[in-house]
Amino acid sequence: MAKKSKQSKTLPIYILNGPNLNLLGTREPEVYGYTTLAQVEQMCAKQAASHGLAISFRQSNHEGEIVEQIQEARTGGCAVIINPAGYGHTSIAILDSIQMLKVPVIEVHLSNIHRREPYRNHSYVSKAATGIVMGLGAQGYLRAIDAVAEILKVKK
Ligand code: DQA
Repeated sequence: MAKKSKQSKTLPIYILNGPNLNLLGTREPEVYGYTTLAQVEQMCAKQAASHGLAISFRQSNHEGEIVEQIQEARTGGCAVIINPAGYGHTSIAILDSIQMLKVPVIEVHLSNIHRREPYRNHSYVSKAATGIVMGLGAQGYLRAIDAVAEILKVKK
């Protein structure tokens, strides 16, 4: 048992980003902020390293590719942090793939989706997430990493 959790801790945290997040920094900065996705990745790598963890940081505009990344995390990751972006509101396929995971899953949104348009108020991913961070901008990713580190420490 102890051996198993030790091994899973050496695996990276999968940090997955959905459609249009490649344009972070220039995309509606008044809503999503001026930090680019490359900067978010750098910040995440640093924060994870401070906990002795590594990351595998991805972005895709394609639903099926995100499903495949989540499937990969079943054996390749110690946890998943996912900003599903627009697919959070629509994708049962992404929910299904998250439901297969045994590792902690933290859902992140830069904006507070409950303060926005009604069609953004519901997220399928929330149904399967261990926890949710929203409304904190890019900092939210860092808080999600802290949460993962805490959860893995408790599990050890
Ligand atoms: C988002 C919120 C979604 O409603 C939107 O489609 C996004 C980004 C966020 O991070 O606030 O693309 O997930």
